[in-house]
Amino acid sequence: MQASARLRAAGQGHLVAALADAAPGDAERLAAQIAALDLGLVARLVDQFVHHDDAPVLDGALAPPDAIPLARGPDDDARDRAARAVGEEALRGGRVGLALLAGGQGTRLGFDGPKGNLPFGSITGNTLFAHHAAKVAAVRARYAAAVPWCILTSPTNDEVTRQAFTDAHWFDLDPGSVEFVVQGTLPAVDRVTGEILLEAPGRLALSPDGHGGLLLALRRSGALDRLADRGIQTLFTFQVDNPLTSIADPLFVGHHLAAGADMSNLAVRKREPDERVGVIARRDGRTVVVEYSDLDAETSAARDPQGDLILWAGNVATHCIELAFARTLTDGGLQLPYHRALKRVPHLDSAGRIVAPDQPNAMKFETFIFDALPMARASITVEVAREEQFSPIKNASGADSPATCRRDVNRLYARWLAAAGIAVAHGSDGEPVDLEIDPRFALDGAEVRVRLAGHAPITAPTLLTG
Ligand code: UD1
Repeated sequence: MQASARLRAAGQGHLVAALADAAPGDAERLAAQIAALDLGLVARLVDQFVHHDDAPVLDGALAPPDAIPLARGPDDDARDRAARAVGEEALRGGRVGLALLAGGQGTRLGFDGPKGNLPFGSITGNTLFAHHAAKVAAVRARYAAAVPWCILTSPTNDEVTRQAFTDAHWFDLDPGSVEFVVQGTLPAVDRVTGEILLEAPGRLALSPDGHGGLLLALRRSGALDRLADRGIQTLFTFQVDNPLTSIADPLFVGHHLAAGADMSNLAVRKREPDERVGVIARRDGRTVVVEYSDLDAETSAARDPQGDLILWAGNVATHCIELAFARTLTDGGLQLPYHRALKRVPHLDSAGRIVAPDQPNAMKFETFIFDALPMARASITVEVAREEQFSPIKNASGADSPATCRRDVNRLYARWLAAAGIAVAHGSDGEPVDLEIDPRFALDGAEVRVRLAGHAPITAPTLLTG
C-alpha cells in the first residue's frame, strides 16, 4: 500500500496533506518520520484509549508484597550471606550485565540535556554518568569480570549522550564494554480526534515510548543476542537519577537467582503516603507495580494496626531481569501493556499556526518495564534501606532534588567513615563536611575500612581517591 493510503487507512489522513504542503527539506524529514511509524500500533492505541477510553481496569485488592525484609538478626545475616555468595559467584562467573535507563526527558528537573550530564559530585563536579561509570569500573575490578553495560537512550538524547562519553574518554572504560541502545518513540495524538500532532512544519510530535522500550531496543539492536553470546544470563537494570544505586549488588542478584526468579525488585519503605514512587504490591497472587498517579489517596494512606503503611513498598526502579525472560517478552513484538497520559503538547493547527495549549490537549503512550512483573513465573522483592540505596533526583528544588541527593550521599560517606573509626567534622548546619569517595577507591563501607585504616580525622571538604 502507498504511504497516503496507509495513512488514510490508519485514520491519519491529515498527514497526507501535511506532506503535500511541507517545504522540500521538511517534506523529506516528515516522510522519513512517517515511514518509521508503526501505524498499526498507533491505530490500535487510538482506538483503545481515544475512541473507547479503555484504560486497563486496575481491579483486585492490593496487598503488600512478600518481601525479603532488611536483616534484623543472626538468622537474617546468615540468609543474606548465603544470597551474597550466590550473587558474587554469578558476577565472578561473568553472568551479570548492566542496563542503565537514561532515555527519559527529565521534564520535572528542567535540566537542559540528558539527566546523566547533571553535575553531581560535591567536590569534583562529576556528572551522574561519571559517577555511574566509576561504579561500573569498580564492580568490574572487584569481580574481575567484564560486566557489559548497556545504556538506554532515546532519539532525542542519544547523540548528546554518546558525545558525553566520547568527550570524557569513556570515563576510562573500554568503549567496547559499553553499548548504547536507542529506544523507540511514539507520536502524541489529539486527545479527541486521535490525529497525530505536528510539533513544527514537517515534524511530528514524538516522544520516547517509555522504559519498557528497553526490552524492544535490546532485542531489535541485537544487544540481547550479543549479551547472551558473552554468557550473560541476568541483567541488572537501574535508573540514571539515583546515584545511590548499589550497581550489581550481589545481595540482590543472589536473592533473585536463589529464588529462580524471572524478574525482581528492590523496595524501600515509603516516606509518606503521597511520596511520588510506584508501589510494589500483590494482586491476584501476582507481583505488580502501581504508579502513584494510579493509586487513590485512601488506598495509599491505609495503615495496619501498628500504624505502618500497608502498601509500604516503594519502587526503587532497580530490577534483575533474566535474559531469557526479556526474550520471551519481545517475541513477536513487545508483550507489555500501554499506558496513556494526557499532556499539554504545543502543535500546529490546521492553519499551520503553533498553538500552545493551556489544558492537556494530547495523549501520549508509554510502556513500563515493571509491567513485565505479573508475567514472571517467579519474582522476589528485596527491601533495602533508603539511606543506603535510594535518593532520586527528580525536581530542581525541594524533595528529591540535586541538593537532597548530594546531602544523602554525603551522609552515607560520613557513616562509612565513622564506622571505619574516622571522625568527620560537621558544619554549623549539622551536616558532615563535603565528602566525595571515588567508587574506584572504595565502593562501600567495608572497602573504606580497609583503605583508610588509621586515617586522620576529616576536618575539611575531602575527596578520597586512589
Ligand atoms: C519512576 C517509576 C516509579 C519509581 C520511581 C523511582 C515509572 C513510570 N515510574 O518514576 O515507580 O518509584 O521512578 O525513582 O518509571 N526512562 C527511559 N525512557 C523513557 C522514560 C523513562 O529511559 O521513555 C528512564 C528515565 O531516564 C529515568 C527512569 O526511566 O532514568 C524513570 O523515569 P521517570 O519518568 O523519571 O519516572 P518517575 O515518574 O520518576
